[in-house]
Amino acid sequence: MTFLDVDRAAPDRPPADAGPARQHRVGGGGTSIRSFHTRQGRMTTRLDDAITHGWPLHGLVVSGGRLDREALFGRRAPLVLEIGSGMGDATAAMAAADPDRDYLAVEVHVPGIANLLALVRERGLTNVRIARGDALDLARDMLEPDSLDAVHVYFPDPWPKLKHHKRRLIQPAPVALLRSRLRPGGVLHCATDWAPYADAMLATLGGDPELVNTADGFAPRPAHRPLTKFENRGVRAGRQIFDLVFRRVPASTAADPTGPTGGGLRISGTMDQP
Ligand SMILES: C[S@@+](CC[C@H](N)C(=O)[O-])C[C@H]1O[C@@H](n2cnc3c(N)ncnc32)[C@H](O)[C@@H]1O
Repeated sequence: MTFLDVDRAAPDRPPADAGPARQHRVGGGGTSIRSFHTRQGRMTTRLDDAITHGWPLHGLVVSGGRLDREALFGRRAPLVLEIGSGMGDATAAMAAADPDRDYLAVEVHVPGIANLLALVRERGLTNVRIARGDALDLARDMLEPDSLDAVHVYFPDPWPKLKHHKRRLIQPAPVALLRSRLRPGGVLHCATDWAPYADAMLATLGGDPELVNTADGFAPRPAHRPLTKFENRGVRAGRQIFDLVFRRVPASTAADPTGPTGGGLRISGTMDQP
Protein backbone atom coordinates (compact mmCIF):
# COMPACT_ATOMS: atom_id res chain seq x y z
CA MET A 1 0.00 0.00 0.00
CA THR A 2 1.28 3.48 -0.80
CA PHE A 3 0.68 6.69 1.06
CA LEU A 4 -1.71 7.84 -1.64
CA ASP A 5 -3.88 4.76 -1.24
CA VAL A 6 -4.72 5.91 2.25
CA ASP A 7 -7.82 8.02 2.59
CA ARG A 8 -6.46 11.56 2.51
CA ALA A 9 -9.84 12.97 3.44
CA ALA A 10 -9.46 11.35 6.84
CA PRO A 11 -5.69 11.37 7.28
CA ASP A 12 -5.64 10.35 10.91
CA ARG A 13 -7.35 7.09 10.19
CA PRO A 14 -5.12 4.08 9.73
CA PRO A 15 -5.24 2.31 6.38
CA ALA A 16 -8.37 0.32 5.73
CA ASP A 17 -6.53 -3.00 5.50
CA ALA A 18 -4.85 -2.68 8.87
CA GLY A 19 -6.79 -5.77 9.95
CA PRO A 20 -6.67 -7.06 13.50
CA ALA A 21 -3.97 -4.52 14.36
CA ARG A 22 -6.71 -1.94 14.57
CA GLN A 23 -8.10 -3.65 17.64
CA HIS A 24 -5.11 -2.78 19.80
CA ARG A 25 -5.24 0.65 21.35
CA VAL A 26 -3.96 2.41 24.44
CA GLY A 27 -6.62 0.83 26.62
CA GLY A 28 -5.44 -2.65 25.61
CA GLY A 29 -7.77 -5.64 25.68
CA GLY A 30 -9.31 -4.96 22.28
CA THR A 31 -10.62 -1.47 23.07
CA SER A 32 -10.83 1.18 20.40
CA ILE A 33 -9.38 4.00 22.50
CA ARG A 34 -6.72 5.98 20.67
CA SER A 35 -3.99 8.24 21.99
CA PHE A 36 -4.39 10.85 19.25
CA HIS A 37 -7.08 13.09 17.90
CA THR A 38 -7.75 14.22 14.36
CA ARG A 39 -5.97 17.43 13.50
CA GLN A 40 -6.23 19.21 10.22
CA GLY A 41 -3.24 20.96 8.80
CA ARG A 42 -2.38 22.93 5.73
CA MET A 43 -0.63 21.13 2.91
CA THR A 44 1.66 23.53 1.08
CA THR A 45 3.35 22.87 -2.24
CA ARG A 46 6.56 22.00 -0.36
CA LEU A 47 4.71 19.40 1.70
CA ASP A 48 2.87 17.95 -1.30
CA ASP A 49 6.19 17.67 -3.10
CA ALA A 50 7.74 15.97 -0.10
CA ILE A 51 5.04 13.30 -0.17
CA THR A 52 5.31 12.80 -3.90
CA HIS A 53 9.08 12.44 -3.88
CA GLY A 54 9.91 11.38 -0.33
CA TRP A 55 7.20 8.93 0.55
CA PRO A 56 8.21 6.19 -1.93
CA LEU A 57 11.78 6.37 -0.57
CA HIS A 58 11.27 6.91 3.15
CA GLY A 59 7.66 6.12 4.03
CA LEU A 60 5.75 3.08 5.13
CA VAL A 61 2.21 2.45 6.25
CA VAL A 62 1.47 0.73 9.54
CA SER A 63 -0.38 -2.24 8.17
CA GLY A 64 0.91 -5.30 10.01
CA GLY A 65 3.57 -7.78 9.03
CA ARG A 66 7.05 -7.82 10.56
CA LEU A 67 9.36 -5.08 9.39
CA ASP A 68 12.42 -6.09 7.42
CA ARG A 69 14.86 -3.58 8.89
CA GLU A 70 17.72 -4.36 6.57
CA ALA A 71 15.47 -3.88 3.57
CA LEU A 72 13.99 -0.70 5.02
CA PHE A 73 17.26 1.05 5.91
CA GLY A 74 19.68 -0.81 3.69
CA ARG A 75 21.82 -1.75 6.68
CA ARG A 76 21.60 -3.19 10.20
CA ALA A 77 22.15 -0.47 12.79
CA PRO A 78 20.73 0.25 16.26
CA LEU A 79 17.16 1.45 15.84
CA VAL A 80 15.40 4.34 17.61
CA LEU A 81 11.61 4.54 17.55
CA GLU A 82 10.30 8.12 17.67
CA ILE A 83 6.63 8.05 18.66
CA GLY A 84 4.54 11.04 17.64
CA SER A 85 7.26 12.87 15.71
CA GLY A 86 4.95 15.84 15.13
CA MET A 87 6.48 18.20 12.56
CA GLY A 88 9.67 16.14 12.65
CA ASP A 89 12.20 18.90 13.39
CA ALA A 90 13.54 17.13 16.47
CA THR A 91 13.66 13.76 14.70
CA ALA A 92 15.59 15.21 11.78
CA ALA A 93 18.03 17.01 14.10
CA MET A 94 18.69 13.91 16.20
CA ALA A 95 19.11 11.66 13.18
CA ALA A 96 21.54 14.12 11.60
CA ALA A 97 23.60 14.20 14.81
CA ASP A 98 23.50 10.43 15.25
CA PRO A 99 24.30 8.85 11.87
CA ASP A 100 25.27 5.46 13.31
CA ARG A 101 21.72 4.76 14.43
CA ASP A 102 18.54 4.50 12.39
CA TYR A 103 15.42 6.49 13.29
CA LEU A 104 11.92 5.18 12.68
CA ALA A 105 9.39 7.96 13.25
CA VAL A 106 5.73 7.10 13.58
CA GLU A 107 3.00 9.71 13.26
CA VAL A 108 -0.59 10.06 12.11
CA HIS A 109 -0.61 13.78 11.32
CA VAL A 110 -0.13 14.11 7.56
CA PRO A 111 1.42 17.60 7.40
CA GLY A 112 3.88 16.49 10.11
CA ILE A 113 4.82 13.38 8.13
CA ALA A 114 5.23 15.50 5.02
CA ASN A 115 7.38 18.05 6.85
CA LEU A 116 9.71 15.33 8.10
CA LEU A 117 9.91 13.90 4.59
CA ALA A 118 10.87 17.36 3.37
CA LEU A 119 13.55 17.73 6.07
CA VAL A 120 14.96 14.30 5.23
CA ARG A 121 15.23 15.28 1.59
CA GLU A 122 16.59 18.78 2.21
CA ARG A 123 19.26 17.52 4.63
CA GLY A 124 20.10 14.37 2.72
CA LEU A 125 19.40 12.11 5.71
CA THR A 126 19.70 8.38 5.01
CA ASN A 127 18.88 7.06 8.48
CA VAL A 128 15.24 8.17 8.82
CA ARG A 129 12.06 6.34 7.83
CA ILE A 130 8.52 7.49 8.60
CA ALA A 131 5.64 5.19 9.40
CA ARG A 132 2.12 6.47 9.06
CA GLY A 133 -0.29 5.00 11.58
CA ASP A 134 -0.71 4.10 15.21
CA ALA A 135 2.59 3.62 17.04
CA LEU A 136 1.13 0.87 19.20
CA ASP A 137 0.04 -1.15 16.19
CA LEU A 138 3.49 -0.66 14.74
CA ALA A 139 5.18 -1.77 17.95
CA ARG A 140 3.01 -4.81 18.41
CA ASP A 141 2.75 -6.12 14.88
CA MET A 142 5.77 -4.89 12.99
CA LEU A 143 8.64 -4.77 15.49
CA GLU A 144 10.39 -7.79 16.96
CA PRO A 145 10.75 -8.06 20.73
CA ASP A 146 14.17 -6.84 21.98
CA SER A 147 14.80 -5.00 18.71
CA LEU A 148 15.00 -1.31 19.65
CA ASP A 149 17.89 0.66 21.04
CA ALA A 150 15.62 3.44 22.29
CA VAL A 151 12.03 4.64 22.28
CA HIS A 152 11.36 8.38 22.38
CA VAL A 153 7.99 9.74 23.43
CA TYR A 154 8.43 13.50 23.39
CA PHE A 155 5.55 15.68 24.49
CA PRO A 156 2.76 13.15 23.98
CA ASP A 157 -0.74 14.60 24.07
CA PRO A 158 -1.38 15.15 27.80
CA TRP A 159 -5.12 14.50 27.69
CA PRO A 160 -5.59 16.67 30.79
CA LYS A 161 -9.25 15.88 31.52
CA LEU A 162 -9.73 12.96 33.85
CA LYS A 163 -12.22 11.30 31.50
CA HIS A 164 -9.53 11.34 28.79
CA HIS A 165 -6.68 9.90 30.85
CA LYS A 166 -7.45 6.53 29.31
CA ARG A 167 -6.16 7.94 26.01
CA ARG A 168 -2.70 8.69 27.34
CA LEU A 169 0.16 6.80 25.73
CA ILE A 170 2.10 6.40 28.93
CA GLN A 171 0.08 3.97 30.97
CA PRO A 172 0.92 0.43 32.03
CA ALA A 173 -0.22 -1.65 29.02
CA PRO A 174 1.32 0.49 26.26
CA VAL A 175 4.49 0.91 28.34
CA ALA A 176 4.79 -2.87 28.75
CA LEU A 177 4.43 -3.26 24.99
CA LEU A 178 7.03 -0.61 24.20
CA ARG A 179 9.41 -1.94 26.84
CA SER A 180 9.14 -5.44 25.35
CA ARG A 181 10.42 -4.04 22.02
CA LEU A 182 13.50 -2.54 23.67
CA ARG A 183 16.66 -4.61 23.85
CA PRO A 184 17.85 -5.23 27.40
CA GLY A 185 19.75 -2.05 28.24
CA GLY A 186 17.65 -0.05 25.76
CA VAL A 187 16.17 3.25 26.87
CA LEU A 188 12.63 4.60 27.06
CA HIS A 189 12.87 8.39 27.10
CA CYS A 190 9.75 10.48 27.69
CA ALA A 191 9.39 14.22 28.04
CA THR A 192 6.42 16.39 28.91
CA ASP A 193 5.55 19.92 29.95
CA TRP A 194 2.41 18.81 31.75
CA ALA A 195 3.29 18.37 35.43
CA PRO A 196 0.41 16.05 36.43
CA TYR A 197 1.20 13.81 33.44
CA ALA A 198 4.89 13.88 34.40
CA ASP A 199 3.99 12.58 37.86
CA ALA A 200 1.76 9.90 36.34
CA MET A 201 4.56 8.92 33.93
CA LEU A 202 7.02 8.60 36.79
CA ALA A 203 4.63 6.31 38.66
CA THR A 204 3.82 4.23 35.56
CA LEU A 205 7.40 3.81 34.37
CA GLY A 206 8.59 3.22 37.94
CA GLY A 207 5.94 0.55 38.32
CA ASP A 208 7.02 -1.44 35.29
CA PRO A 209 8.86 -4.55 36.48
CA GLU A 210 11.52 -4.41 33.75
CA LEU A 211 12.33 -0.71 33.72
CA VAL A 212 14.80 1.07 35.97
CA ASN A 213 15.12 4.80 36.37
CA THR A 214 18.47 6.23 35.27
CA ALA A 215 17.90 9.22 37.57
CA ASP A 216 16.58 9.88 41.01
CA GLY A 217 13.10 10.83 39.85
CA PHE A 218 13.07 13.15 36.84
CA ALA A 219 16.19 13.14 34.70
CA PRO A 220 18.30 16.11 33.71
CA ARG A 221 17.51 17.13 30.17
CA PRO A 222 19.80 15.03 27.92
CA ALA A 223 21.92 17.24 25.67
CA HIS A 224 20.94 15.28 22.58
CA ARG A 225 17.20 16.05 22.87
CA PRO A 226 16.50 19.07 20.65
CA LEU A 227 13.85 21.63 21.46
CA THR A 228 10.62 20.38 19.92
CA LYS A 229 7.75 22.45 18.65
CA PHE A 230 5.47 21.40 21.48
CA GLU A 231 8.17 21.85 24.07
CA ASN A 232 8.71 25.39 22.83
CA ARG A 233 5.01 26.03 23.21
CA GLY A 234 5.14 24.79 26.81
CA VAL A 235 8.22 26.88 27.61
CA ARG A 236 6.59 30.01 26.20
CA ALA A 237 3.57 29.35 28.39
CA GLY A 238 5.90 29.24 31.42
CA ARG A 239 5.63 25.50 32.05
CA GLN A 240 8.41 23.34 33.47
CA ILE A 241 9.84 20.57 31.29
CA PHE A 242 10.22 17.05 32.68
CA ASP A 243 12.44 14.31 31.21
CA LEU A 244 12.10 10.67 32.23
CA VAL A 245 14.83 8.25 31.16
CA PHE A 246 14.29 4.60 32.03
CA ARG A 247 16.37 1.63 30.99
CA ARG A 248 15.13 -1.89 30.32
CA VAL A 249 16.61 -4.61 32.44
CA PRO A 250 15.92 -8.36 32.26
CA ALA A 251 13.06 -9.35 34.57
CA SER A 252 15.36 -11.32 36.88
CA THR A 253 17.46 -8.24 37.71
CA ALA A 254 14.61 -5.76 37.99
CA ALA A 255 14.15 -4.08 41.36
CA ASP A 256 11.02 -4.01 43.45
CA PRO A 257 9.20 -0.99 41.97
CA THR A 258 7.67 -0.22 45.34
CA GLY A 259 11.16 0.07 46.83
CA PRO A 260 12.78 3.15 48.33
CA THR A 261 13.43 5.07 45.11
CA GLY A 262 9.70 5.21 44.36
CA GLY A 263 10.26 5.96 40.68
CA GLY A 264 12.15 2.69 40.12
CA LEU A 265 15.70 1.62 40.82
CA ARG A 266 18.35 4.23 40.28
CA ILE A 267 21.26 2.95 38.27
CA SER A 268 24.60 4.63 38.47
CA GLY A 269 27.24 5.28 35.86
CA THR A 270 27.18 7.32 32.71
CA MET A 271 24.23 7.03 30.43
CA ASP A 272 24.63 5.84 26.86
CA GLN A 273 22.95 8.09 24.40
CA PRO A 274 19.32 7.03 24.63
C1 LIG B 1 1.70 16.96 21.23
S1 LIG B 1 2.34 16.32 19.75
C2 LIG B 1 4.11 16.31 20.02
C3 LIG B 1 4.88 16.23 18.75
C4 LIG B 1 6.40 16.26 18.89
N1 LIG B 1 6.89 15.08 19.57
C5 LIG B 1 6.85 17.51 19.57
O1 LIG B 1 7.33 17.42 20.71
O2 LIG B 1 6.75 18.59 18.97
C6 LIG B 1 1.96 14.59 19.90
C7 LIG B 1 2.01 13.89 18.57
O3 LIG B 1 1.86 12.50 18.77
C8 LIG B 1 1.07 11.96 17.73
N2 LIG B 1 0.50 10.70 18.24
C9 LIG B 1 -0.25 10.56 19.34
N3 LIG B 1 -0.55 9.27 19.52
C10 LIG B 1 0.04 8.58 18.51
C11 LIG B 1 0.09 7.21 18.15
N4 LIG B 1 -0.54 6.28 18.87
N5 LIG B 1 0.76 6.87 17.04
C12 LIG B 1 1.39 7.81 16.29
N6 LIG B 1 1.39 9.13 16.59
C13 LIG B 1 0.72 9.50 17.69
C14 LIG B 1 0.05 13.05 17.44
O4 LIG B 1 -0.47 12.95 16.15
C15 LIG B 1 0.89 14.32 17.63
O5 LIG B 1 1.46 14.76 16.42
